[in-house]
Amino acid sequence: METKCWIVDKEVDNKTRYPQIEEAAQALRLNEVVAFPTETVYGLGANALSDEAIAKIYEAKGRPSDNPLIVHIADTSQLEPLIVDIPEKAKRLMEAFWPGPLTIIFKKMPGRLSEKATAGMDTVGIRMPDHPVALKLISACGLPIAAPSANRSGKPSPTSAKHVWDDLAGKIAGVVDGGETGVGVESTVLDCTVEPPVILRPGGLSKEEIEDVIGHVEFDPALKNKDSKPKAPGMKYTHYAPNAPLYLVEGPIEKIQQLADAQRSAGKKVGILTTEENSSSYDADIVLSCGKRSELSTVAHELYGVLRQFNETEVDIIYSEVFPNTGIGAAVMNRLEKAAGHKWIR
Ligand code: TXA
Ligand code: MG
Repeated sequence: METKCWIVDKEVDNKTRYPQIEEAAQALRLNEVVAFPTETVYGLGANALSDEAIAKIYEAKGRPSDNPLIVHIADTSQLEPLIVDIPEKAKRLMEAFWPGPLTIIFKKMPGRLSEKATAGMDTVGIRMPDHPVALKLISACGLPIAAPSANRSGKPSPTSAKHVWDDLAGKIAGVVDGGETGVGVESTVLDCTVEPPVILRPGGLSKEEIEDVIGHVEFDPALKNKDSKPKAPGMKYTHYAPNAPLYLVEGPIEKIQQLADAQRSAGKKVGILTTEENSSSYDADIVLSCGKRSELSTVAHELYGVLRQFNETEVDIIYSEVFPNTGIGAAVMNRLEKAAGHKWIR
């Protein structure tokens, strides 16, 4: 399949017509799969009402079909037909954080969405992305758009159109290139069908920010205990892993340097994942820095790009620094733990 690339300026406005976006919207209406930028990561979009369209997403991604997709909307008027009701707390969160990196799980209105999109569950995750191009595209096609992250299953999520292209060229109808994404990690998934609401996946919106609006929420216990079954089916899969084994190291720079030295004297090539503040303190075969330790949102923004970069260099082992588990750090550490397959050196 020939994959088109539609380049648009991130700052699309309401008045102008954008032929690229109209062409992409037309492809979505024809039940084709189109990748597009959101504020978190690039999404792989298709008509959420069509089994035919959704089947193409699972095929392009190579994703297990028991894993439900998030449905993206551009306007709250698109929400009501898809769900049974809007709980009071969900309403307050929508007012505070939509558009934005928060996916809310609602009870699903039977018979509307493709059963494939929701993997046959009686709930559905919905969000309104905070990205002018995404909003314009969804409005232009007039459909709810199911969109997982636009990577091949298991790879780090894409934060640029190039990442999407590397994974999916030839497999999808097109990519809308709106530049780099902002947040860099996926949305927070919050189950509002239970009381108190439960965070199924930490993401771009922190637990603290949510609690400021609706009071106490919990983390799904499966996030801490890797042997129990997560409520978000996607959280059970290995994800984001670079080709070389990645270890999370708790401890000072000197400890990571000693580990690296030991491997290198055994003839191994060593990679280190660090931050701007610390990168010049290490001596290894490749030292990659993601953002500033003092500003964890910059680490979130760069993490997936750096994980992908390790695959462009031949290293035998990677050691990573770790980060505080608060604020967006919870999402960063969740993704790093998955990338490391929970391998820790403490
Ligand atoms: O930021 C994001 O959320 C990105 C962009 C493209 O919007 N999308 C994304 O989608 O990350 P995906 O499909 O890669 O991840 C969706 C996660 C999975 O872990 C899935 O299991 C969970 O949300 N999920 C979706 N619907 C659910 C439901 N009804 N109940 C529980 N978990 C659900
Ligand atoms: Mg994903």
